[in-house]
Amino acid sequence: CYFMKAWVNEDTCIGCEVCVSVCSDVFSMNDNGKSVAITGDIPSDLQDDAIEARDACPVSAIDIDK
Ligand code: F3S
Repeated sequence: CYFMKAWVNEDTCIGCEVCVSVCSDVFSMNDNGKSVAITGDIPSDLQDDAIEARDACPVSAIDIDK
């Protein structure tokens, strides 16, 4: 078990929502049509999905730090 956080670069995000469809427990769309990640640590059971979402983003707008 280790700590992991995710961020979305709002300037890069084009709002394609792939991250939300892969991992809606971590990523959601804000009012500007950009994705935002939960601010706290990603629960261990969601970490694989969060990484998959990062890798699936077509513009690499998601950073994950662990
Ligand atoms: Fe944006 Fe990438 Fe998600 S473009 S909505 S961060 S898949």
